[in-house]
Amino acid sequence: MMDRNADAPWSKFDPEAYVDLNYRTPLEVDLLIVRLMRDHFSGCFAGGVPAAVRGVDVGAGANLYPALSMLPWCEKLLLLEYARPNVEYLEKQASPAGYDTVWDPFWDVLRDHPAYERVEPRSRFGDIVRVERANLLDLDGRRRWDIGTMFFVADSISECPEEFRRGVACFMGALNEGAPFAAAFMKESVGYRIGEHHYPACRVDERRVRESLEGYADGLEIHDLHHVVRPGHEGMILALGRRSSEIATT
Ligand SMILES: C[S@@+](CC[C@H](N)C(=O)[O-])C[C@H]1O[C@@H](n2cnc3c(N)ncnc32)[C@H](O)[C@@H]1O
Repeated sequence: MMDRNADAPWSKFDPEAYVDLNYRTPLEVDLLIVRLMRDHFSGCFAGGVPAAVRGVDVGAGANLYPALSMLPWCEKLLLLEYARPNVEYLEKQASPAGYDTVWDPFWDVLRDHPAYERVEPRSRFGDIVRVERANLLDLDGRRRWDIGTMFFVADSISECPEEFRRGVACFMGALNEGAPFAAAFMKESVGYRIGEHHYPACRVDERRVRESLEGYADGLEIHDLHHVVRPGHEGMILALGRRSSEIATT
């Protein structure tokens, strides 16, 4: 039997253990991803930033770097997350106390670009970020955003290929036409352990990621990054593009 999204112990997710495992010591591959995403968003907005841009990070979990990469462009930025411990983690990061210093090395990469250098990230994060408990698989296109990120979510919440494709479709369906996006995937992941708990993953490669996105994206760029950060996967895949006007049939 395949582990579906609803079967995994999301209420037991430990955000601090997750940060210790993945982000407390910044990995070269994450810093590379931040740089590629920064340059992608800067390129998309090179002609000017529209008024009142609203951004979303779906399945934000205990990772602030996708949200940080959207800071200069957004008037409002929503972090959607399903697991209650991660919702609490994110609410604390967005509180007046300011986010943890663990995220500073990621901002250091962002602020090397002129579009980011004048942003004061902690106060801006506290001002524009809101956190909401929501299920990716319930996004039905009625609410849409102007820029979006989804990092290690559609591939890392279920073993089921149908839920992977649906997760990507729900994310892309939540973006307005022309919206810049970035999405990241673990390549060929067999699942992951956080503390005492195992979480499911769907094995995807560059071809499957491309297939899942191409009906929804213009200017799709896929970076197949061969960095292995732990046993049980074969690298990371970063997809960059803009939401197309085509509505794909899945
Ligand atoms: C591997 S983590 C990725 C977290 C973070 N985005 C990152 O880049 O490290 C998967 C995340 O998806 C969240 N999640 C699981 N099921 C979800 C669902 N149905 N809708 C939204 N988020 C979900 C988990 O709680 C977790 O935060």
